[in-house]
Amino acid sequence: ISRADTALRGRLLWFVERPEEHGAGAVRYIEDGLLVLAGGRILAVGETSALRPALPAGAVIHDHSGRLITPGFIDPHIHLPQTQVVASWAAQLLDWLNTYTFVEEQKYGDPAHAARGAAFFFDELLSNGTTTAVAFCSVHSASAEAFFAESERRNTRMAAGKVMMDRYAPDALTDTPQSGYDDSKALIGRWHGRGRQLYAIAPRFAITSTPEQLEAAAALSREHPDCLVETHISENLEEVATAKRLYPECADYTAIYEKYGLFGRKSLMGHSIHLSESERQRYADADAVAVFCPTSNLFLGSGLFDWKAMREPRRPVRIGVATDIGGGTSYSMLQTMNEAYKVLQLQGQRLDSLALFHAMTRGNAIAIGLDHLIGSFEPGHECDAVVLDARATPAMAHRMETVTTLPEELFILITMGDDRAVEETYVMGEPKKPRKRG
Ligand code: GUN
Ligand code: ZN
Repeated sequence: ISRADTALRGRLLWFVERPEEHGAGAVRYIEDGLLVLAGGRILAVGETSALRPALPAGAVIHDHSGRLITPGFIDPHIHLPQTQVVASWAAQLLDWLNTYTFVEEQKYGDPAHAARGAAFFFDELLSNGTTTAVAFCSVHSASAEAFFAESERRNTRMAAGKVMMDRYAPDALTDTPQSGYDDSKALIGRWHGRGRQLYAIAPRFAITSTPEQLEAAAALSREHPDCLVETHISENLEEVATAKRLYPECADYTAIYEKYGLFGRKSLMGHSIHLSESERQRYADADAVAVFCPTSNLFLGSGLFDWKAMREPRRPVRIGVATDIGGGTSYSMLQTMNEAYKVLQLQGQRLDSLALFHAMTRGNAIAIGLDHLIGSFEPGHECDAVVLDARATPAMAHRMETVTTLPEELFILITMGDDRAVEETYVMGEPKKPRKRG
């Protein structure tokens, strides 16, 4: 560790397996630990007493002794142009899209509006301890440019794409199969793999894309197989019926994305609620990812995501858990896991606090195919981290008086915590929380 330039000290917690399957063996926890970094990457991790004497004299030590430090949170489904859609009083999905969402998203054709929105968006994510997100921008290239420029400025590892949508939306919000392809292709060329930026090809969903546009999206995915693909599926029953009516030759909703070559191991399938056993089996076979958006699914009355059915041991499906701002109601991944827990409770299912923390760190890194880079504190990984305080509010501090174990503390953070519990957010080893407490 003679090359180290930075170290983070605190109660380090991360995962090397799934707690649901490996129990305590999945967890790494060091009560007085040191993360030793060079150039933002993890060189070594271990006991402070063992590592500190070996640090070079000039290394900066960020001392968070007594505070929990976990890998930065990952949000695999969120919408940049919906920060002013949150908390819009609508019936359900299709009404909400037409009445509020498609109105706000039109404003992102203006580069100045997009830049201001992106600055707010990144402030809010980093305040909440979210260091990586997979985002939908608006249909306009300008919105994706604003997103990536802001992300590059903050050196965050982010994925995003301009949405492709060529029907059933206002004219100001539609592209064409050709322009959607060309604009996405140009953005891939400019941003995919530049620094920490990654491109996600983003056909919005089967309703707002013609068959020709889904074909164009699939062509992009074939030409750029390392780009993610993000879309929506089986969120709302009326949406499912409409999608089937628009693609009558497809036996179910999943078959639409299968038919057009958009359903594979890079595919992040937002919502994935109303699925048949046949569809779940095909998710597992294709290694496609089901993205659970609990606050959104409750807010829009969409339905209850069936975690247990998805994780059926003979054919487990990869799952991501996400905010889905602005259908979702909180930017906080802690609050998102709080609602995830309750959605499962309603179905007689439960995840423990270790599994919930795993889901928003290493679990989401696996979902987006970046677990070799982020989501854990293993040496070689990029050091994105969040410092958490389970006594951040009077009610939390009061509750913590009776706590004796780490899993209890983690469950309080998830149930009662939000951006107030985030003391600091590190991006590549540098403190980046924009809005501090106090
Ligand atoms: N389905 C298609 N577009 C959207 C969107 O913006 N939000 C949600 N929640 N579902 C969608
Ligand atoms: Zn969404």
